[in-house]
Amino acid sequence: MSLVSMRQVLDEAAKGGYGVGAFNVNNMEQIQSIMEAARETKSPVIVQASRGARAYSQDRFLYHLMLAATEIYPEIPTVLHLDHGNSVETCKSAIDMGFTSVMMDGSLMPDGKTPSSFEYNVDATRRVVEMAHEKGITVEGEIGCLGGIEDGHGAGLDGLAHLTDPDQAVEFVEKTGLDALAIAIGTSHGAYKFTSKPTGATLKMDVLIKIHQRLPNVHLVMHGSSSVPNDLQDIINQYGGKLKPTWGVPVEEIQLGIRNGVRKINVDTDNRLAITGAIRKVFAEKPEEFDPRSYMKPAREAMKKVVALRMTQFGQAGHAGDYAPISLAEMAKHYAAQPVLV
Ligand code: G3H
Ligand code: 13P
Ligand code: ZN
Repeated sequence: MSLVSMRQVLDEAAKGGYGVGAFNVNNMEQIQSIMEAARETKSPVIVQASRGARAYSQDRFLYHLMLAATEIYPEIPTVLHLDHGNSVETCKSAIDMGFTSVMMDGSLMPDGKTPSSFEYNVDATRRVVEMAHEKGITVEGEIGCLGGIEDGHGAGLDGLAHLTDPDQAVEFVEKTGLDALAIAIGTSHGAYKFTSKPTGATLKMDVLIKIHQRLPNVHLVMHGSSSVPNDLQDIINQYGGKLKPTWGVPVEEIQLGIRNGVRKINVDTDNRLAITGAIRKVFAEKPEEFDPRSYMKPAREAMKKVVALRMTQFGQAGHAGDYAPISLAEMAKHYAAQPVLV
């Protein structure tokens, strides 16, 4: 099976009333963890790469690893998605390389830090939609800005500084013709999202529900959706790490989102924590080891466990065999016949 469009995977998720995790990757082991979890749980899957991941893997390594994934796991509908494209050019380079979905994050300027104007965002996103849809490729856009700066994304403000305005979200969707809409509801990237368990004052599920009521047929995307569970924090700290106490997005809140139009859920930090905890454990317990496989195997297993759990919690488990993939050429024909699918 070749890589499939994200639009098809999200349309199917909407029909089935479930969400699909989008997991970040940088290397072979992370791809293997996700694909093994997908096979075990029979899940369709979105694998995503940031600009940093593309640079780290020299782009081509990542792409060919993903082709290997489609060869080894032909039964899994697999999307290769660009996470937080910062410009039309970045999205173009991903499309040229074979990504089947791109995010044009025009909520920020190309520096990835400065909040942009609505007009800039509409223009950049619209241009990517035109370029991508011609090839049957999916486009995610973002309106409102996430918080957090640890990973270089976000406006460097707290998660509540640039919440999505539901009226603006409607206008944005109409003017861009995108396939999936990322919204800002108080989450941020990285491990330090909330200083205590989030409440309605810090995690604005009410805003999400309002957006869904205004745009009932639009696939919503939750970024910054790691749950940062205590057990993963504890392993790291138990074996010499120094994480400060922190809270992520509770899985029940994500499930509430899924009941209200969320179809794509971005998770990176939880997997980073799982990998780091497993490696620290081997280093602490077996200081004589120096074969990288002795710690990469448990790291891979730890990430697989987290991904499989999220796949079950998001509801995508069991749905890998529900549909035959639509080719990108066929998707392009749909877009040409009906330029705005929403
Ligand atoms: O959106 C952020 C993801 O966690 C990717 O982070 O830019 O460090 O690869 P990164
Ligand atoms: P986390 O940092 O919560 O895992 O979010 C990842 C993300 O939103 C990637 O785009
Ligand atoms: Zn993100």
